[in-house]
Amino acid sequence: MVKIFGAKPLTENEVRNLERIAGDSNIMLRRRVFYSHRDLDVYLDMYEKGFRCSLYTGRGPSGSTHLGHILPWIFTKWLQDRLGLELFFQMTDDEKFWHDERLDISESNRYAYENILDLAAIGLDHRKTHVIVDSEDIAFLYPIAVKVAKKITFSTQKATFGFTDSTNIGLIFYPVLQISTSFLPSELYKEETYVLIPAGIDQDPYWRIARDIATSLGYPKPSQIHNKLLPGLGPEGKMSSSKPETAIYTTDPPEVGAQKIMRAFTGGQPTVELQKKLGGNPDRCSVYKMYEMLFEDDDTKLLDRYWKCKTGALICGDCKADLASRVRRFLVDFQKRREAARDNIELYLLRTKFEPPKHNMRKPL
Ligand code: TRP
Repeated sequence: MVKIFGAKPLTENEVRNLERIAGDSNIMLRRRVFYSHRDLDVYLDMYEKGFRCSLYTGRGPSGSTHLGHILPWIFTKWLQDRLGLELFFQMTDDEKFWHDERLDISESNRYAYENILDLAAIGLDHRKTHVIVDSEDIAFLYPIAVKVAKKITFSTQKATFGFTDSTNIGLIFYPVLQISTSFLPSELYKEETYVLIPAGIDQDPYWRIARDIATSLGYPKPSQIHNKLLPGLGPEGKMSSSKPETAIYTTDPPEVGAQKIMRAFTGGQPTVELQKKLGGNPDRCSVYKMYEMLFEDDDTKLLDRYWKCKTGALICGDCKADLASRVRRFLVDFQKRREAARDNIELYLLRTKFEPPKHNMRKPL
């Protein structure tokens, strides 16, 4: 993927540099859950030189949030805290409405607000987190979008996103909005603002266009840092809402979350006897991945689990039970914070804190 998209693998030096600036280490960096980037080095350089910097990420609100969705947001919170950055978060209720035949705009819009509760539960600071809801906040984007749209030809757009003649034109216009949001911080702060986008590499086509046109519009090129997707609890594939039994939702009752873990696919042998004799395979185990990517901070304990599994000293039932109790505890705490945020949603909304950008005022002729 890194090769196809022309991104750069995150090197040891780059990880160390980021951790130095952050004054903290992070498991998603150490374990390369975030594994590639574009111009992270430039971004950090500008940050250290004192230029204004911010973060940008987003979500297509088409349903409940699962652990795979919140993984990059947890890392984003770490960046926000450690580097003192403001985060712009785009909720693309329009994109999901255009994308999904059966989804009404009122529904994707409602999910946008539900999903803000997840941002709050993660602990993102509302004073530094600004959520833009596409279908309601177009005044913030449109002054930028008119300029962006003029730079993108239909042939570039088709080649980048693979759209065809039967794609609805909502989807054809949509990339303009996702790209425009990467320039929004510069407009809102009225100064050149460097933007880092933590996201899955699947979002990269947008940023390739954004980077191509940024300079000509007078904006810095946005930088990216890419995360691996959290595997689902089945034998293969990412955690996905199309297979709810293999996904842990932030709104799953804690007991249900725990049960899903107990039923998860593992790299274990068919019987306990065989497991003790031959050992398990943590490298293709959805349960081990959950420890590695989210639920075990301690590197020594993770390594210990890895070798105990491989040598047959640890059996899947015990390993799953341990994870299930961590997931249960996580869900209990998360849901408490999630509910507590319900009355404070507007604190996160961009529109309650900023004025839409204006074109330079012109004198009437
Ligand atoms: N297109 C993304 C999705 O389908 C949503 C999104 C909008 C996004 N802006 C973003 C994701 C910036 C990452 C970074 O989920």
